[in-house]
Amino acid sequence: MDVTFKIKRQNPELPGKDKPYWQEFTLKDVDPTDRVLELLHRIKWEQDGTLTLRRSCAHGVCGSDAMRINGVNALACKVLVRDVGNKVTIEPILGLPVLKDLVVDMEPFFAHYRSVMPFFISSKPLPEDGRERRQTQEDRERFDDTTKCILCACCTTSCPSYWANGKYVGPAAIVQAHRFIFDSRDTAAKERLDILSEPNGVWRCRTVYNCTPACPREIQVTKAIGEVKLAIRKGSPEGIIKVTEIVERVVNS
Ligand code: SF4
Ligand code: F3S
Ligand code: FES
Repeated sequence: MDVTFKIKRQNPELPGKDKPYWQEFTLKDVDPTDRVLELLHRIKWEQDGTLTLRRSCAHGVCGSDAMRINGVNALACKVLVRDVGNKVTIEPILGLPVLKDLVVDMEPFFAHYRSVMPFFISSKPLPEDGRERRQTQEDRERFDDTTKCILCACCTTSCPSYWANGKYVGPAAIVQAHRFIFDSRDTAAKERLDILSEPNGVWRCRTVYNCTPACPREIQVTKAIGEVKLAIRKGSPEGIIKVTEIVERVVNS
């Protein structure tokens, strides 16, 4: 099959190409199971070596090739051309400055990530046997979903609240905070909840829900944000664990 790509390009450093413009490329002999990333490589290698994109693992692990494919955020290495048709529109993710073509400046995104203290903190002494801090399987399951985040930014850059105000910490940072807030071994939940209750924290989320279907790791992003909101209201993650247990019991009864 033939596939036509319409790609939004921009080179802010090159006069004449410093404003966004569209360019079309047609590829022949495309297999329906080819991935969009492979086809972008073909364009770069066979037609225009200046086309610029970010990628690394090509297997949905590094999170570096997030882009808008037919208007929907996705990782190019995980999208098959048969699922997007023979006319494919490619744009950089929204809400972050474009450095060149499909490469955006991720620094504002990582600044929000760092702001929630995305690392393990414990004021408790190590167990006397000097081995690792343990927790029950139930405690581990509490934050299992949010450990899967690969920081691809598909969620944050699909969020209208983030487009409207880049100071909003964004769903990815909240997912990362959730991973530690609900870890029974961590002792800094209160600090993280205080950070996220600031004006540019979780309350900027208007439950638009774009973030959840955008996540290539199928993390329940909006649910995690809701749990953090509830924990702020209750003053700690413990109260909300009981609330969700009760809700699940009612749903399953
Ligand atoms: Fe990407 Fe999902 Fe993590 Fe958001 S939550 S950064 S979409 S992996
Ligand atoms: Fe945005 Fe997701 Fe909330 S799309 S408004 S962070 S539910
Ligand atoms: Fe690593 Fe796609 S290239 S996730």
